[in-house]
Amino acid sequence: MTDLNVQLLPWQQEVYSDPTRFKVVAAGRRTGKSRLAAWMLIINALQTDKGQVFYVAPTQGQARDIMWQTLLELGNPVISGAHINNLQIKLVNGAMISLKGADRPETMRGVSLKFLVMDEYADMKPDVWEQILRPALADQKGSAMFIGTPMGRNHFYELYKMAELGDDETYKGWHFTSYDNPILDPDEIDTAKKSMSSYAFRQEFMASLRHTAVSCLKKKMLDLARKNLLMVIITLLSIWQDLQMYRKSRLKPNDLTRRQLLWLKRASKAGGLLISYMAVGASKRLHDESLKQSETTNQSQ
Ligand SMILES: Nc1ncnc2c1ncn2[C@@H]1O[C@H](COP(=O)(O)OP(=O)(O)O)[C@@H](O)[C@H]1O
Ligand SMILES: [Mg+2]
Repeated sequence: MTDLNVQLLPWQQEVYSDPTRFKVVAAGRRTGKSRLAAWMLIINALQTDKGQVFYVAPTQGQARDIMWQTLLELGNPVISGAHINNLQIKLVNGAMISLKGADRPETMRGVSLKFLVMDEYADMKPDVWEQILRPALADQKGSAMFIGTPMGRNHFYELYKMAELGDDETYKGWHFTSYDNPILDPDEIDTAKKSMSSYAFRQEFMASLRHTAVSCLKKKMLDLARKNLLMVIITLLSIWQDLQMYRKSRLKPNDLTRRQLLWLKRASKAGGLLISYMAVGASKRLHDESLKQSETTNQSQ
């Protein structure tokens, strides 16, 4: 360990020194997430004799491309063997660093881990953590670090929010932007900004979470509008289809007038009945009145 020349950026130092068991780092591109992961893998492996630590990327290819060379360079003084075929690096204390792809979960089952990193976590299915890796940390009470750039309101966003909220003390969240890496020239980030949409810039370099929430709301509203529009179109189409069916198979032009006549007759019948009922009532009342009048005339005579 003393042979290692561990050099961390200020934000990396802050995350590294924090004792929280599960660390969640949402940060922009080139902030230094993977480099911090490499150092933490080496240091944690050196602290676990003959144990194992995992580095997990969305695919095995990504795991190799992002981490293999960096681990060989940074860990050189403490590496006793490296096997590119099975993506494993053995350290002088007998501990093993294994590089894994979340696309091949079967290669991660049945192990006991002291530490693990999940890189580009927003790009992988959360099942890998929940069903395979979390149980693997249980017997050694191992720790984990989730790193990535938020992409919409997915499982990584939810995990970061949960960690940031602080309800569960075993989780802690950090947020950094690409400007937090002093090695990156800020002018270079500004130049990139000019050639990118503000949406892409805020997502990729700023790892913006507020923007993620807003864009998610916009997306939901658009989805809703799209669904409603679809429903209107489907309803109109089905009405049109009904009309066609009705016109083609149920009615000939003459039927319509015949039907209309039938309804008119029925209506006039009903109307006639009502009129005759009223007429009978009225004539009865007239008859009764004239009867009363003749009675009173008879009495007066
Ligand atoms: N502590 C450090 N010391 C020196 N260079 C660093 C350090 N941290 C990050 N870098 C450099 O910054 C660049 C981005 O780092 P990387 O870990 O690949 O970022 P990310 O994974 O966030 O995209 C790389 O060139 C890396 O070597
Ligand atoms: Mg990276």
